[in-house]
Parts: sequence; C-alpha cells; structure tokens
Amino acid sequence: MTVESGWVPPEIDTTKANSARVYDYWLGGDHNFQADRDAARAAIAFDPGIRAAARANRAFLGRAVRFLAGQAGIRQFLDIGSGLPAENNVHQVARDTAPGSRVVYVDRDDVVVAHSRLMLADAPDAAVIQADLREPGRILADPETQLLLDFSHPVAVLLVGVLHFIPDDAVAAGIVATLRDALVPGSHLVIGHACGDGQPDLAPSFAAIYNSRVDTQTRFRTGDEITRLCEGFTFLDPGLVWIPQWRPDSPGDVPGEPEKYWVKVGVARYDGR
Ligand SMILES: C[S@@+](CC[C@H](N)C(=O)[O-])C[C@H]1O[C@@H](n2cnc3c(N)ncnc32)[C@H](O)[C@@H]1O
Repeated sequence: MTVESGWVPPEIDTTKANSARVYDYWLGGDHNFQADRDAARAAIAFDPGIRAAARANRAFLGRAVRFLAGQAGIRQFLDIGSGLPAENNVHQVARDTAPGSRVVYVDRDDVVVAHSRLMLADAPDAAVIQADLREPGRILADPETQLLLDFSHPVAVLLVGVLHFIPDDAVAAGIVATLRDALVPGSHLVIGHACGDGQPDLAPSFAAIYNSRVDTQTRFRTGDEITRLCEGFTFLDPGLVWIPQWRPDSPGDVPGEPEKYWVKVGVARYDGR
C-alpha cells in the first residue's frame, strides 16, 4: 500500500495484521501492509485455495444482492462488516438491478471507513458509518442509518464474513436478535460465516494460524450453530450452503469439493413472529 496516497488514517497500527486488509490481499487488492501480507500468506501456505474462496465470497455477495434487489424487491441494504471497497460493491450491484436502492455500509476499521468515504463521495444513496457490530443498537440509531434507511419497509441486513469475528455464541445471537427486532416482515438476512464442518480436522489449525496473526479472533462454527444464530429467519432455497452452491450462475461454477471454501452462506427472510 502506498501510505502517501493520502487517505490512510495516520493513527492506524500497520504492524498488526487486520482482517479487512488480509482479505483485501487474498482478493488481489493493494490496500494492505507488510503485516497483513505476512498473515495472508501464512493462511495461503496452509490452504492455497483461500484466495479462490475469497473471490467466491465476493461473487456470492453479488448474486445475493442481485436476487434481493431483483426478485425479492428489496431497496434498502445495511451491510455490516462491509470491508474494503472492491469490485461489485453492494451499492453498485443494487443500483444496477434497482436504481434508487439505498445502502449503509458499516465497518469498525479506520482504513475501510476512510476508503469507503472516498468511494461514496458521489453516491447520494449510500453512506458508510464507523461502528462495531457488537453495538447493533448504535448502528441502528446512527443518524446516517436513520437518514437513509426506513425501517417501516423491508431492509436486507448483510452479515457476510463478519459474524465469525464474534466468538461468543450468546453475544452473536444477541446481535442478530437486536437487528432482527428492528425489521419488518419481508426483510432479509444475508449470512456468510466460517464453517469447519467440511474439514473438521483442519479447521482448528487454520483458525490458530489466522488468530495468531490478525487483530481479530475468528471462530469456525458448525452449520447447526450458524443456523441457530439466525433464529427468527427462514432460509430460502438452497438453505445454508457452501459459498459456490448458493444459486450459482451456472452449474459448472460449483467445484467438486465446495466444502473446501470454508464458509457457509445463505439468504434468509424475516416473516415476523
Ligand atoms: C472478511 S471482511 C468481509 C467483507 C465483506 N463483507 C465481504 O464479505 O466481502 C470482514 C470485515 O468485517 C470487519 N469487522 C470485523 N469485525 C468487526 C466488528 N466487530 N464490527 C464491525 N466490522 C467488523 C472488518 O474490518 C472487515 O472489513
């Protein structure tokens, strides 16, 4: 990363790897520092497929948002743990499918927020706020959220690649419940969560490699545990599945061993209590 590029906040600690920038490296981005690259490469050395998994995750995000803005008729998106801007960001995909869609991005990371602000300077229907997923009430009450999103109409909440950074089940479930309770029926949840079910012998080592280098602790959950966190939502077809299996654009996009992508994803609807 070129620090002199101007938008890197001066106060950030570049000596400790960070989940947003490690993911950026896996995606081929250049918004990362040496510590991030070292951590990202350690994970790649453990599993060279991780970069393909990261790309597949972005592709899933695109398919899910296209579905929501298209068939599901959603016009409002709350993307928490939005990450560094890449190709096909939520507001771009939503806008292409349904012009006028409104998007609030949320991330706790300084670099993500600074860079997202630059990207959104000319996007009146989108904003980024700096907040922690652990404070969902703050996210919901934030003036930008309130300005852009009308919670008396359906909203899609995106928790893609972020809930596994909340290791405690009760805390994670409480976060999802708080967000759910702000929604009206017809709203949706998009979930993407690290899952060790497909490679249970390897998952603890993978988590240890990541957790020893990155400033956030990640937790691989089982599919059942992830489903329990989404209580009150009904998974749409095909349910909670490995990334490439969620409504692939073509059957050929699903590899022979999709569980090697480490992440389970799904789109679920809130139908009210
Ligand atoms: C792996 S990236 C996922 C980005 C994007 N959602 C995607 O799937 O392509 C995870 C993001 O979550 C953010 N994050 C991690 N823990 C968070 C927390 N407690 N609150 C808000 N954001 C968090 C990181 O800063 C990072 O940008």
